[in-house]
Amino acid sequence: MTGRPSGRRTIRSFVRRTGRITPAQHRALSELWPQYGIAFSAQTLNLDEVFGRSAERVLEIGFGNGETLVHEASEKPEIDFLGVEVHEPGIGHCLIDAQDAGLKNLRVIKHDAIEVLQQQVGDAVLARITLFFPDPWPKKRHHKRRMVQISFLKLAASRLSPAGTLHIATDWENYAEHIDEVIAQSSEFTLAERCMHKGGFESLERQTTRFEKRGLRKGHSIWDWMLIRN
Ligand SMILES: C[S@@+](CC[C@H](N)C(=O)[O-])C[C@H]1O[C@@H](n2cnc3c(N)ncnc32)[C@H](O)[C@@H]1O
Repeated sequence: MTGRPSGRRTIRSFVRRTGRITPAQHRALSELWPQYGIAFSAQTLNLDEVFGRSAERVLEIGFGNGETLVHEASEKPEIDFLGVEVHEPGIGHCLIDAQDAGLKNLRVIKHDAIEVLQQQVGDAVLARITLFFPDPWPKKRHHKRRMVQISFLKLAASRLSPAGTLHIATDWENYAEHIDEVIAQSSEFTLAERCMHKGGFESLERQTTRFEKRGLRKGHSIWDWMLIRN
């Protein structure tokens, strides 16, 4: 399959941080990469080849240190999981946990998730996309860096299979208002569920994430949206 043009994009939802990386994470990035890593390229991936089978597929954007991703992948061996993250220490952490859990149904891409979706993921191949606690970019002049925009919903919808779902969560009130506005403008999705809670909300079937725990400790509320592709 061939890649697709991405257009020029300069506004990104992240700033590359060097961060502290432990020797174990550093080692995992080289030793476990051949097993779990997929290099970014402009070629559309053949996911059946990547995973060596045909299965339902979930893509998690910005998985942080991968705790939620590894947990779900070990709970659901019948589903294939693709994690996309740019933060190297987090990716190293995720690879170590993936190996400890003996996962065969997880692959990781170290690149901007927008470009991965644009160029590497085929049309209508995903059953679900998850975006848990994207960077809130609180300053008004940075709102354009927020991941959730109309263009993002259009892109996500095109990569989801019919009736595929997009699950978003945030602990940042102003971002929640922004997400509500963007969803209201979208013709690609139907809002199946929206809830605000103080943690421990189980009907949306997800584990509490590392950033969510931090938000809850600060007394933040949590917002979840489950969107279904039209
Ligand atoms: C606030 S953290 C949340 C991490 C995790 N989902 C959690 O809830 O614990 C946001 C993460 O998204 C990642 N991120 C931001 N923009 C990204 C992008 N365009 N592509 C891939 N990862 C991105 C950051 O590196 C960061 O690890």
